[in-house]
Amino acid sequence: MIHIKTPEEIEAMKPACRHAAQALVMIEPHIQPGITTDEINDLIHAFTIEHGAIPAPLNYHGFPKSVCTSVNHVVCHGIPGPKRLKDGDIVNVDVTSIIDGWHGDTSKTFYVGTPRVKARKVVEVARRALDVGIAAVRPGARLGDIGHAIQQYVESEKCSIVREYCGHGIGRQFHEEPQVLHYGRPGTGIELKPGMVFTIEPMVNLGKPGVKLLKDGWTVVTRDKSLSAQFEHTLAVTEDGYEILTLP
Ligand code: MF3
Ligand code: CO
Ligand code: CO
Repeated sequence: MIHIKTPEEIEAMKPACRHAAQALVMIEPHIQPGITTDEINDLIHAFTIEHGAIPAPLNYHGFPKSVCTSVNHVVCHGIPGPKRLKDGDIVNVDVTSIIDGWHGDTSKTFYVGTPRVKARKVVEVARRALDVGIAAVRPGARLGDIGHAIQQYVESEKCSIVREYCGHGIGRQFHEEPQVLHYGRPGTGIELKPGMVFTIEPMVNLGKPGVKLLKDGWTVVTRDKSLSAQFEHTLAVTEDGYEILTLP
């Protein structure tokens, strides 16, 4: 069942969404060669608690940390640890905050130091992929229109879109219906209606689309070890289009 949110409920989601977006703004200057992903986790955890928010990933289905940090060929759900980032790496930081019981979910891929050509390519394609997906959101459009727009753009850039993980409805629950696939056919899937709130979060691989899950049960990597990048926003369908909720 898809929860259609009232305008008041959408307003009530904004503090959590804004907080998550502000956490990404806060962390950006810290993303430098030499920082560990544990340090990124700890900075975002502290920022979250200081603002009276709750880090949704912590203990979510047993996830051990407060934020996901996905480096280079890690596609998503990377677990922060003692590994130091080095010049030329890319790292996705995925923040989900809870305020007053409402969730806000956003992520961004950062360059560590100076990006090489391949890193720049996959990150810029992932950034645009989210933009073209968002541009397809309006009442009367269908979920397949979003997926199609993303897939056709990413493949036109000779990159690939991960199939195994998708965007999702969000609200009082971290992951609600519907599933928002980042591939598909125009005119298929459910019709978008004002009051729907969901994420779009395409994972773009520089090589082939295949992924595998590491033995830790969380970390998803590209099978071919190619670089992967991702950007995510939480947005609401409005009467005449969309509103991005995860803005700082
Ligand atoms: N934030 C991720 C998403 O965009 C989900 C992370 S689940 C966790 O849906 F348990 F790994 F935190
Ligand atoms: Co999400
Ligand atoms: Co997320």
